[in-house]
Amino acid sequence: MCGIVGYVGPREATEVLIEGLRRLEYRGYDSAGVAVMNGTGVQVRKAVGRLSALEKVLSSNGIHGGVGIGHTRWATHGVPNEVNSHPHVSYDGKVSIIHNGIIENYRELKRELAEQGVKFKSDTDTEVVAHLLAKAFDGGLLTTLSKVVKRLRGAYALAVCHSDQPDRIVATRMGSPLVIGIGEGENFIASDVPAVLKYTRQIVFLEEGCLAQVTRDGVELFDADLKPLSFTPTTTSLTLDAAEKEGYEHFMLKEIHEQPHALAETIRGRIDGDHVDLSELELDAESLKGVKRIAILACGTSLYSGMVGKYLLERFTRIPTETWSASEFRYADPVIDPGMLVIAVSQSGETADTLEALRIVKEGGARTIAICNVMGSSIPRMVDATLYTRAGPEIGVASTKAYTTQLAGFVLLAVGIGRMVDKTDEATEKTIVEGLRQMPGQVKALLDEDIVAVKRCAKRYKDVFNFMYIGRHFNYPTAMEGALKLKEISYIHAEGYAGGEMKHGPLALVEGTFPTIAIAPAGRTREKLISNVQEIKARKGVVVMLSTHGDEEARELADYLIEIPACEEELSPILAVIPLQLLAYYTATQLGRDVDKPRNLAKSVTVE
Ligand code: F6R
Repeated sequence: MCGIVGYVGPREATEVLIEGLRRLEYRGYDSAGVAVMNGTGVQVRKAVGRLSALEKVLSSNGIHGGVGIGHTRWATHGVPNEVNSHPHVSYDGKVSIIHNGIIENYRELKRELAEQGVKFKSDTDTEVVAHLLAKAFDGGLLTTLSKVVKRLRGAYALAVCHSDQPDRIVATRMGSPLVIGIGEGENFIASDVPAVLKYTRQIVFLEEGCLAQVTRDGVELFDADLKPLSFTPTTTSLTLDAAEKEGYEHFMLKEIHEQPHALAETIRGRIDGDHVDLSELELDAESLKGVKRIAILACGTSLYSGMVGKYLLERFTRIPTETWSASEFRYADPVIDPGMLVIAVSQSGETADTLEALRIVKEGGARTIAICNVMGSSIPRMVDATLYTRAGPEIGVASTKAYTTQLAGFVLLAVGIGRMVDKTDEATEKTIVEGLRQMPGQVKALLDEDIVAVKRCAKRYKDVFNFMYIGRHFNYPTAMEGALKLKEISYIHAEGYAGGEMKHGPLALVEGTFPTIAIAPAGRTREKLISNVQEIKARKGVVVMLSTHGDEEARELADYLIEIPACEEELSPILAVIPLQLLAYYTATQLGRDVDKPRNLAKSVTVE
């Protein structure tokens, strides 16, 4: 997820671009850049880090001109450095381009261009598009772009300038957002409405596969075959303040609702037909067959995804797997040997405890993989291979979309490795791949449902002091994660417990007002969990049941019933956690908590 913005008009383009990029920083902020046309060719400025770094560069080395494009980056291909920052310029210095998305076939295009003698400067997928445009340029930027996009696979919002046509920006999109702002004597393009709100409220949302030609005097839209399209701008009611959160009250709620997209991004290109495709990790089947044990290292929410990861890896690979809190691991005098495969899990890639534990296992000669969300962060830089979760920037302190995409990452790894070590058969792989493919849609259906029971529970139980969450097997970690979400943002004490452990102690807590959330989707342990619920009900406890649609027994037992769609049990933690995220969210908002910045916490814990 990156932010793009473009301007054509009488103002200094850099001022408009910086204002736009500031509004888009929520989409990524590991580097930024602008390109401006002023009749003397294209002038580019870039800087690594927050937008303020680019502003500093521009204040000492400014560029003047009224046509320009700007980009704030959230790296997907190539670490965050100046060379990989956008805009990218073609080998002949004439095309400048910004991109949000992923060009999936960039490797083959890069090979083809390299054979024609093009020298690449960056590690990005975007640079190929700049060179393709330069090669194909036919005197008209619009016609050239329409030809070149036919060669691209993947997702993109692209904005392009050419020094032979310095009065215009040409743009297109497929799978990534792009809006056009219509001004008076000036026009804009952007990833999102907030970027142009300071200047205009007249917005056109570009349709999939369509192209736009933007000049000072007007905007023209075309379909993929360059047939002109008519359009009427809409007047947005968005205010600047609400805009970065896209109308959501909090980033956490926005990020909960981004999960269908985030999951689709995580899966994209990693399933092919009925198969998991982990080729990007360059894992070697023979060497994987030599792995004697797997250790997962993580903290907090990532630790709970690692707990699910253990069950998945053991089921699909039959390799003994242990999950460690990274802060415990490093002081536990761990046994490390070269037969060990270590998987470090981290949203930020900067968590000090996880980094330190990773350093220890590397010294011991273990092989290492990361599941991480932030490209180019410290953890991916340390490991042999990284599966990026592509959830986009997570700003709310309470992790939501990072968690569900980590779970999807573990499913991919477990099934992919399971196939490579011959412990998962084709039929099982097919079933899981099919289930995974349905996940984004099922999560969306769940979110669209407006789960009334969740809101009612939040209202009813916001004033209790304690909550119990129980689950078994794949959903034991869901209980831990549900409890963590509640305690960190509502400040209500909550515990996640293995359902079977209740009778060994915690059952003593149960009485008339004590609520337990029982996570019991269809699967091997459902019946056992129902028995645990019976034990609670027999002691007059209150039970909120989370079960699969159509489970009549759960309906009868429950004081409140939350239902999720049917799915393979290995995938159920992805669906089951969604209502629990919402329950924590609505409880916290009822209590007036600072949801995005809960007290005493920080998004990235870079101290041990
Ligand atoms: C909880 C939460 C934290 C993080 C933990 C690890 O909602 O966000 O528990 O999961 O601090 O952070 P990462 O995943 O960045 O290593």
